[in-house]
Amino acid sequence: MALKVTTTNRVPAFLAMAVMNATRELEATGVDVIHLEVGQPSTPPPVAVNAALTTALGEVATHGYSLAFGEMTLRRRIAGHYADYYGAAADPAKIAITPGSSLGFALAFLAAFDHGDRIAVTTPGYPAYRNLMLAMGLTPVQMPARAAEGWMPSLEALEASGEPLPDGMLIASPANPTGVVMSDDEVKAVCEWCHRKGVRLIMDEIYHGLTFEGTPTTALLHSDSVIIVNSFSKYFCMTGWRVGWAIFPDELVETVERLAQNLYIGPPKPMQAGAIAAFDDYGALNLHVDRYRENRDILMRGLPEDFLGETAPCNGAFYLYADIGALETSPDSIALAEAMLREAGVACTPGVDFDQEQGHRHMRLSFAGSTAHMKEASRRISDWLPKYLKSR
Ligand SMILES: Cc1ncc(COP(=O)(O)O)c(C=O)c1O
Repeated sequence: MALKVTTTNRVPAFLAMAVMNATRELEATGVDVIHLEVGQPSTPPPVAVNAALTTALGEVATHGYSLAFGEMTLRRRIAGHYADYYGAAADPAKIAITPGSSLGFALAFLAAFDHGDRIAVTTPGYPAYRNLMLAMGLTPVQMPARAAEGWMPSLEALEASGEPLPDGMLIASPANPTGVVMSDDEVKAVCEWCHRKGVRLIMDEIYHGLTFEGTPTTALLHSDSVIIVNSFSKYFCMTGWRVGWAIFPDELVETVERLAQNLYIGPPKPMQAGAIAAFDDYGALNLHVDRYRENRDILMRGLPEDFLGETAPCNGAFYLYADIGALETSPDSIALAEAMLREAGVACTPGVDFDQEQGHRHMRLSFAGSTAHMKEASRRISDWLPKYLKSR
């Protein structure tokens, strides 16, 4: 049957995943590749998490459906995390456990917005936001974050644009792909602005815990209308477990519950049993953060200056957003990423995935891997780049 062209089947691909597939194909032919393309920890979750899952698998109670918002034991444990980690009060009744934060976004978009609504998103930014919005008939509005403005989205520029204010705003801190972290004052200012202007704010806090300086903060401290989205995928090293959570304001809780029931019934039960143990050992998790910091420093010191260019500060997450603009007169991050993969055996993600206009002059490098891999990647890129530039 001929394919009916719908909004949904025109949804763009997530390029980072396409790079991952190309890399796997190359590896299958025996080529040794260093993976700087994937945004996932290279280490497993704390042992207590695996042990809790193993125990749960033997229990009949973990085999049935979970409630739409997930297990109350885990929701209470998450509320405890907000109290311990940030000194913030989170009501377990408003916390929804989701199959990854990805479904948290889907719930937030469906519950808070209507077809055609405009949502401001930071550019460069995580591509799935924009792609999912387009698939749902929402309109992403770009809020450029550029080196000249310290990589922060400008509310003043949004107000001065002459366009009507957006219905919603989605910001991630620490950010993907730049690693930029907002201060508590900056988070507070965005919360207050959105509240004042009637703009529904969604804060993506999925990279929380992965910060290299400063005191942790959450938008929950500054707003009772914000939607917080978070996950066990990054700091807690549980990417493939597909467990996340979102905290909804009072007025959206009932709608979200009905949506969750109809979208996926409830989040996976055994994974929640494992996730409860994730908060028991911050010490083990923070050792990974120390390694990420060291990895970042190795890349910043070891990579050629003209490859790094005007890199964003990367004080958090595990990404370095290199500005390759100085390398060529017409930089092309897709061509450079392809050549680097085939000729140097280093995979990374072209910036066009995160910014369709300016991303051709950027490359995202993930430093979530081992320290040995960061050293080897920087050696390979430094050896290869001059040869590549000479051959052009
Ligand atoms: C900024 C950001 N938000 C959300 C996600 C989705 O994560 P998950 O669905 O694994 O929780 C990612 C994944 O890389 C991300 O980078």
